[in-house]
Amino acid sequence: MRNNKIAIFASGTGSNYDAIIAAIQAGELDCEVALLVSDKPAAKVIEKAKQNQTPTFVFDPRQYPDKAAFEQEIVEQLQVNNIEWIVLAGYMRLVGPTLLHEYEGRILNIHPSLLPAFPGLDAIGQAARAGVKITGVTIHYVDEGMDTGTIIAQEALPVTNEMTEVDLQKQIQRIEHKLYPQTIQQVILHTNRKGN
Ligand code: GRF
Repeated sequence: MRNNKIAIFASGTGSNYDAIIAAIQAGELDCEVALLVSDKPAAKVIEKAKQNQTPTFVFDPRQYPDKAAFEQEIVEQLQVNNIEWIVLAGYMRLVGPTLLHEYEGRILNIHPSLLPAFPGLDAIGQAARAGVKITGVTIHYVDEGMDTGTIIAQEALPVTNEMTEVDLQKQIQRIEHKLYPQTIQQVILHTNRKGN
């Protein structure tokens, strides 16, 4: 039986972290954020985690010889904290084989475009510059590629001529904050039902 403990990996402002915590508090998401992992010691999300009493593991990748070394330490932290699922929310790194092997099929990511369009950095800017009339948000399983894993959920957003990039960003975030908690809940329920 799974315990539904998740670790959020984040290195930004943490608005998705906030949305997940709010959904748990509202009884809409049946899991516990038992660890926040961040590779940016100055990230705002770390303050938020401390205020919420979420345990944190913050590391500086430059202090390790390579990705395998810091991922091995992350795996140890995840195991100590009994983590079942990894939820990436603004962790701006490719996940390597060490983590992928330990958490195969149990790592989710959110990306601010309709994948496979606009993978990688600055997806909202990429979409704005391309002049697309529809963009959106994707939630997918993580594999070794850049935003290439199996898609779980998507929500589209029409782009009007009047919208600035800032408007676009706000509307994308609004979708993210609703879609991510809902999708995490669905994935966890579905996996528990299968008895995995
Ligand atoms: C989100 O836009 C997410 O799609 C991307 O990184 C951003 C994180 O934002 N992967 P926040 O730190 O949760 O506000």
